Amino acid sequence: MRVLGIETSCDETGIAIYDGEKGLLSHVLYSQIAIHADYGGVVPELASRDHIRKTLPLIKQALQEAGVSADSIDGVAYTAGPGLSGALLVGASIGRSLAMAWGKPALAVHHMEGHLLAPMLEANPPQFPFIALLVSGGHTQLVRVDGIGQYQLLGESVDDAAGEAFDKTAKLMGLEYPGGPLLAKLATQGDAKKYKFPRPMTDRPGLDFSFSGLKTAASNVIAAEGNSPEVQADIAASFQQAVVDTLVFKCQRALNETGLKRLIVAGGVSANTSLREQLQQLLSKMKGEVFYPRKEFCTDNGAMIAFAGYQRLNAGQQQDLSIGVTPRWPM
Ligand code: KG4
Ligand code: ZN
Repeated sequence: MRVLGIETSCDETGIAIYDGEKGLLSHVLYSQIAIHADYGGVVPELASRDHIRKTLPLIKQALQEAGVSADSIDGVAYTAGPGLSGALLVGASIGRSLAMAWGKPALAVHHMEGHLLAPMLEANPPQFPFIALLVSGGHTQLVRVDGIGQYQLLGESVDDAAGEAFDKTAKLMGLEYPGGPLLAKLATQGDAKKYKFPRPMTDRPGLDFSFSGLKTAASNVIAAEGNSPEVQADIAASFQQAVVDTLVFKCQRALNETGLKRLIVAGGVSANTSLREQLQQLLSKMKGEVFYPRKEFCTDNGAMIAFAGYQRLNAGQQQDLSIGVTPRWPM
C-alpha cells in the first residue's frame, strides 16, 4: 500500500509518499517562517493562504521525486488536528478531495500521533511498548505506547509547552521568531550554572509539567542584569538546562513507574542537542534505549503523517466523505 501524506497544521507545508514495502519514497517541505517573522509569531490567516498556494504544487513535486504516478497512490492521509483551523482545512480539503477524485480511501491523522510514530521511520525502529516524550510548540506529553492507536497519557503540561517556553523566553531576549532553535544556539556559548532557574514540579509526585514560570524567571534576570550578549548567552544556557533537567527527571520517573526501558522522543524540541545528549546518558545509565527521528523529522513534516496514515489505512480504517478538522483534539 502506498500513501500520500499531507501536513498543514501550522506554518509548514509537508508532503510525503510512504510505501509499505519500499518505505519513504519522497518527502518535501516548505517552511513559512519568512512570512511570519516580521510579526513575531504565526499569523493564522497568512498561514492558510500560503498553504493554499503551496500544497498542490508540492504534491506534484513529491510524486515526481518519488517517480510514481497519482494512479499508484492507494490512500491519502492528512493532518486533521490539533492545529490552526484554517490551515488544517486547506490540507483536509485538498486531501479528502484528491482521494475522492482518485477513488481511494482517505484518513484524518492526529498530528501528535504523527510525531509519536516519526522515530519508526528510521533504521532500527523501536519495538512496542515504549514511553514517548512528545515535546513540541503546542504539547509536552508523556505517553505510554503499547501499539498503533494504543496510547495512554501519563502526564502533560498544565500551562506552556516546552517549545512555547523556549519561544517565549527567546522573544523576551529579543531573538527573532521562531526563537527556540536560536536560543539553543546561544546556549552553547553560555554558563548553564550562572542563573538559578526552577525545575518546575519535580518536587512533587506525578508526571505533569509546568513551564510558564521559566519565562518569568528569565524576565526577572533581564530586569536585574540587562540584555547584553553575555547575559543572553548565560540566560539561554541556564534556561535550557532547567528545561532539559525537568524533562529528563520526568522521563526517568515514567520509565521507573512503568518498568519500561525504551523511550522515544519526538516533536520540535527533540531536535535540541542538549536534550538528546542528556536523555542518551539517562538511558545508558538505565541500560535502556532512546530513539529519535532524524532532525528534519523532529519538527513538522509530511513523512510522519504519511507513515501514521499508512499504519491506519493498512489496518482498514478510513474516513467518510465529509471534510472536517478538529483544531483541539486530545490524542
Ligand atoms: O513540532 P513542531 O515543529 O511544531 C509543533 O507541532 O508545535 O515544534 C516547534 C517547536 C517550536 O517551539 C520550536 O521553537 C521548537 O519546537 N524547537 C526547538 C528546537 N528546534 C525546534 N526548541 C529547542 N531547541 C531546538 N533545537
Ligand atoms: Zn508538530
